[in-house]
This record gives sequence, structure tokens and C-alpha cells, in this order.
Amino acid sequence: MVKLSSLKKLVTDSMAIDLGTTSTIIAVKGRDVVLDEPSLVAVNELTDEIVAYGQEAFDMMGREGRDIVVKAPLSGGVVADFELTKKMLAHFVKQAKSGGSQVSLQAVMSMISDVTHVEQRALLNAAEEAHIGKVYMMEEGLAAAFGAGVNPGDKRASAIVDMGAGTTNVAVIAKGSIVHSRSERIGSDEINKAVATHLRRHRGLQVGEESTEHLKVTFATAIVPEDLEKEFVVRGRDVQTGSPGAVTVTAGEIYPIVEGIIRRIAQIISDTLTELRPEVAADIYDRGVILTGGGVLLDGLDQYLRNFVNLPVILSDEPRYATVRGLVKMFDEPELLERVSRNELHILQNAEVPFEA
Ligand SMILES: Nc1ncnc2c1ncn2[C@@H]1O[C@H](COP(=O)(O)OP(=O)(O)OP(=O)(O)O)[C@@H](O)[C@H]1O
Ligand SMILES: [Mg+2]
Repeated sequence: MVKLSSLKKLVTDSMAIDLGTTSTIIAVKGRDVVLDEPSLVAVNELTDEIVAYGQEAFDMMGREGRDIVVKAPLSGGVVADFELTKKMLAHFVKQAKSGGSQVSLQAVMSMISDVTHVEQRALLNAAEEAHIGKVYMMEEGLAAAFGAGVNPGDKRASAIVDMGAGTTNVAVIAKGSIVHSRSERIGSDEINKAVATHLRRHRGLQVGEESTEHLKVTFATAIVPEDLEKEFVVRGRDVQTGSPGAVTVTAGEIYPIVEGIIRRIAQIISDTLTELRPEVAADIYDRGVILTGGGVLLDGLDQYLRNFVNLPVILSDEPRYATVRGLVKMFDEPELLERVSRNELHILQNAEVPFEA
């Protein structure tokens, strides 16, 4: 067990890290969010060297030089490429450190609730090699809930949805504990994939990731668009000729594709809410669902979900930062952090006393 006194000593070096599929967000105790970068690295394939991280790597994406590839070290909320995750995390942690201090560091990181032992170990090892002295890991759902304003002492239940790029997590919290949760590997990026597939197959245009993302963020809606004829020009590569090309899409054409994905996600949320015990269900009936994660910024999503689940639906403010803000709050509540953190240390300690209740 880490002594509470040692937790209090290191206040200035306490870091909260939300290592997501699309973004890595770091907050430091007392300084809020200090880093928000795409979870990407650009690698020179000939030398295996990393030539850029984060935003700089993102800016190269789709237009890389011949020997450069831009890679996402995480996929579906978990480590996909261990070496790259390690290097990327170390780079971001160094950037986020104040004044390049050499003092030991403690960090709290989030992980998806159905993380496997192997996936969790990969994350912990990556953190270790990033020279973070002590790492606490907690479930993303809890962090998102605290970040969205759920009081850890509240005995009544709250439901939190975190819709990220690669995962959707539904967590029901009461008294600072998860009473029910479900995590599915479908997120907002599924919309990008569906739109890109549609454009390629039905409109004969291959589009890059940046263009698809731009279309989603500025033009796509979760609810029936007011003006179905509204137009948007997408540029890319003509499938037939291979030449640069463009097509004009309408809101009415894009909407059903987006809705198809949103409906699957809404169904997951709705199904999860049928799995609750009566008292918990009663609390959620009154309070509804809180939305966090970047995916919930899709135009009209809250309204769509409100209709779908027939409950109040509340958009948290700055939904992309809910998780990291929940994580950083943990440093003010060391007892709670001890209780909710699930790191290898705890697993080992539990293994030594298998018969203790
Ligand atoms: N304004 C917006 N409209 C629609 N979608 C958006 C908007 N802003 C961000 N997104 C989407 O949100 C997703 C990223 O959300 P977030 O940063 O919470 O994900 P993540 O934490 O990296 O992923 P995960 O939790 O799955 O590991 C991306 O799919 C992105 O396209
Ligand atoms: Mg996330």
C-alpha cells in the first residue's frame, strides 16, 4: 500500500492521463488540462525512427513523405503497438512536466472497464518506461462520472455514457463505485468509416481521414436535418480514373448513414439501462443519462438519445475533458483513489492473501 502521506507530498507532480484512441489528454493537479494532442506518431520506416508526435504527426497524415507512415499506437481504447505507445506516452509526459523537473512523478490513468490483464499490463509497462514513479489506474467510467460532476459520496445512482472514437462505455455509478457497466468497441469513428465506404461505393470517391472527419464534424447530424438539400463538397480521389476529384453530397444523403451507426450505439445504451436493479433503475429514471466523450459533440446527438431512451439526457460541459478532469480530482481524494485504483500492485497484494474477504 502506498502511504497517504507520500501521496500528499507530491502534489505538484500529480498528473492525470487520458490515453485515448484519438487523443491523449493530460491534466496536472492545480493546472487543469496542459496537453491535448492526437494519439499519433510519424515513423520513418527505413530507420524505424519516430519523426513526429501528436499534432505534428496528424498534420502529416494522408500526405506523408514516401518513407514516413503515421501510426495510431492505440486501437479500440487499448494498446495496439506497445513500443509506439511507450514512446508516445513518454514524449507527452515529458512535455506536460512543469519546468522539466526531475522529481518523481505520480500519475492516474484511465482504462476501459473490460480491459484484459494483458492490455492493462501493456499500459502499466508503458507508463513505467515513461518514468512515471507511481501509476494508479482507474476505470474510465468512474473518472468520466466524477469529471462530469457526479459526487463520489452520492448514494443515488447516476448513468454516464462516454462515447469516444473507438469505444462506447456506459457506466452506472453509486457511492463512488461502479454498480453496472458495459463497454463496446464501437465509437464515433465508425461514422467516419461508414461515410467513407458510402462515398467510395456509391459516389466513386476515395476520401482521406481528414476530409471524412471534417464532413462529420461540420455537416453530419444525428437527427433529421432541417434542410435535406443542403450541400457539401467532398474532395478526394476518383475511384475510376484515379485522378483528383470531388462530389457534392446532400444532408439527406449523409443523414441515414450516420443514423445507422448512432442507432447501434443508442441501442447499446438502451440495453444497458434494462440490466439495472429496480432501485438503481428508479434513480436513473429521475436523473437520466450524462453524456461525455468527443463523440457526443455530434450535432443533435443528445436530442436523438433523449428520444431513443425516453429519459433526460444531459451533455456534460467540455465532454472531451470529463475523463481527465475526473482523474485529476482523485488527487484531492487520496482515500478514494486508493479504493478505486486497480493496478497490478493491488492484484499482487490480493494474490498473497487469497482467502481474505
Ligand atoms: N464536434 C464534433 N462532432 C462530432 N464528432 C466529434 C466532434 N469532436 C470530436 N468528435 C469525435 O469524437 C471522437 C474522439 O472522442 P474522444 O477524444 O473522447 O476519444 P478518445 O478518448 O480518444 O477515444 P476512446 O475513448 O475510444 O479511446 C472522434 O471520433 C471524433 O471524430
Ligand atoms: Mg476516451
